[in-house]
Amino acid sequence: MKRIAVLTSGGDAPGMNACIRAVVRAGVHFDLEIFGIHGGYQGLIENNITTMDASSVANIIQYGGTILKTARSKEFMTAEGRLKAYHNLKALNIEGLVCIGGNGTYTGAMIFEKEFGIPSVGCPGTIDNDLYGTDYTIGYDTAINTAVEAIDKIRDTADAHNRVFFIEVMGRHSGHIALYAGIAGGAEGIFIPEKEHEFDDIVKIYEKKSRTKQFSIFVVAEGDEDGHAFEVAKKFQEKFPDTDSRVTVLGHIQRGGKPSANDRILASRLGAHAVKALLEGQRNVAVGVIANDIAFTSFEDAIYHKKDINEKLWVMNDIITR
Ligand code: F6P
Repeated sequence: MKRIAVLTSGGDAPGMNACIRAVVRAGVHFDLEIFGIHGGYQGLIENNITTMDASSVANIIQYGGTILKTARSKEFMTAEGRLKAYHNLKALNIEGLVCIGGNGTYTGAMIFEKEFGIPSVGCPGTIDNDLYGTDYTIGYDTAINTAVEAIDKIRDTADAHNRVFFIEVMGRHSGHIALYAGIAGGAEGIFIPEKEHEFDDIVKIYEKKSRTKQFSIFVVAEGDEDGHAFEVAKKFQEKFPDTDSRVTVLGHIQRGGKPSANDRILASRLGAHAVKALLEGQRNVAVGVIANDIAFTSFEDAIYHKKDINEKLWVMNDIITR
């Protein structure tokens, strides 16, 4: 293998730049020609592909977003779109891909390999931390730190006004961000899609605590089955009409900002190992870190297995919040 390309796809995550940098620098180390695909799979279809060298990734490790841009390409979900993408890769003799992104990114890479035999290695890049085959995804650490910083600020005003706050964090299908940010932010209740009956639980907690405490913080994952933070707050206000509650949706603020040191290191490890794996003949696998060691998981497993939340943390948090 002499020519490889790198792309970022799906929702951006802080640390993607550090990963691109590692892919390019490792590629240079192994005497490869490296190409950057701009705009995810859509860029592949539109032939938005440029050569990259060590200097193209200088001075980017500290930035959020992705210098290669990203997209959720609908066209790549069609056979015609993928055929165009294949012709563009073929014309440049690109023999392997490093695809940085989430579940949709892995799915695209897997289908593409089945159809055209172009091998890919995936690097887990999503703030949601919802990818099987790695303990942590690129961007998660930064996102939870952003959320905790916001929770701390909200805590000040909640305390000053004796208010109850429902803070919504990202996580379409998973509660990893809510669980970690909730624990680190000292929340009294955490709502996540992986668990049920949180509302009844917080009612019990609130009834007990309201005797001694005037303000409260609850963290709600956007994908929780109770609904979004506004719905949970409405239910709560109806149950406790004397409380003064407010809602804050943190939204895309969680996706931006300087990547944390942990995210930069994780991204660097994963990017470098992805290139090494391609050269060693691995194909259609996602690279991850499990128990601080590099681990590979087939795309199929990574896509179809759901990554559970850390149950022990959930139980521990129950003990210290009740
Ligand atoms: O998958 C990452 C994520 O940030 C989710 O937590 C969130 O639901 C989604 O992306 C938002 O996507 P978009 O930026 O396309 O609205």
